[in-house]
Amino acid sequence: MEHDAVIATIEEMRRDVAAAPEIYRPGAFWEQLVEDNIDMLRREGIENLKRTVSNNYYNWLTVSLRDPQMQLAIRRWVRHPSLAPLRGRMEPASGLRTMGRPDAFELTAKAARRYRFFVGCAWEEARRQDTLGLTERLTEPQAGNPIRLWRSSRLISQDLANSIVECSFAARSGCVRDGARVAELGAGYGRLAHVFCEARELTYCIFDIPPALAVSQWYLEQVLGAGRVVRYRRWEDIEQVQAALRPGGVALFTPDQLELFPDGWFHLTQTISTLPEMPARQAEHFLAVLAAKSSQALFLKQWQRWRNEADDVELTEDQYALPAPWRLTDRRVDPIQPAFFNQLWRPDSAAVA
Ligand SMILES: C[S@@+](CC[C@H](N)C(=O)[O-])C[C@H]1O[C@@H](n2cnc3c(N)ncnc32)[C@H](O)[C@@H]1O
Repeated sequence: MEHDAVIATIEEMRRDVAAAPEIYRPGAFWEQLVEDNIDMLRREGIENLKRTVSNNYYNWLTVSLRDPQMQLAIRRWVRHPSLAPLRGRMEPASGLRTMGRPDAFELTAKAARRYRFFVGCAWEEARRQDTLGLTERLTEPQAGNPIRLWRSSRLISQDLANSIVECSFAARSGCVRDGARVAELGAGYGRLAHVFCEARELTYCIFDIPPALAVSQWYLEQVLGAGRVVRYRRWEDIEQVQAALRPGGVALFTPDQLELFPDGWFHLTQTISTLPEMPARQAEHFLAVLAAKSSQALFLKQWQRWRNEADDVELTEDQYALPAPWRLTDRRVDPIQPAFFNQLWRPDSAAVA
């Protein structure tokens, strides 16, 4: 029943996005992925999302020694050897779906050992980057049926490690604080929203297309409780929205609903692994809107260079220039995925927190 309700919500959201201005609708790359993700959800169920669609959002099934993420993990492990990534316990990883294969599969014993090592190393990196004490407090939620992997008695995951690294980087802006208003464009199943909402009492707004929007709505209700989630609906105006939003809560919107919010309403806007997957005009539009809607900081984590064949566009890091008063205050290569950059932009007028 729950599954049918999610599928119905996806269809309702799809009708609304189809009626939105074209600039907000999925481009060619995502049009195809939307169909594939809905197919995975129909066949495997929302309750298995961390073995299916999450592999199309951010989770990487890193098992090849030639994979740059694995090579970075190995180089770092050689520099700081630790038994922790070798000692982790992992259950068999079955029921997995990816775009490359038509049916569900299980990791072989060798692949599973490598995956376990990679996730263990990602967790060690999260511990090093963690400025908010999250690695001591958070565990991977069981909702969505993750590949179960323990570090001592704590359930950990690659997505949780990445989200903690991202949250700690964004916190350099001073905007990960009680009472802050944060917007994320393209949130996948809501892994980062979960970590932000556990980190501080803030208001977190997700702007996404279905099925991800319905998936994150379901997931965040599971992990935060329905009382902390303001479900997607067609709002009339910002007064109505503001009356519904509370610190400690998360709210779900289609991307065109970003226009409901006055300029500068959010303290922090952010988007991860999204813009290169869009048509050039759409990526440019969203970058400008994310800058306009934020008063204090904008966090970007994207491919340093990526060719999107479906939309016939290649986006490179130097194309992410924001106009004054925005200034790039922090930039680094992502500490877990070296093909990605992390950028933190702040306007000259932002109060130093
Ligand atoms: C590769 S996934 C990354 C998800 C998430 N940021 C993460 O790192 O787990 C790309 C996200 O962009 C979203 N997206 C694609 N086209 C979009 C559009 N036109 N407007 C808003 N979000 C879009 C997808 O639904 C998905 O949530």
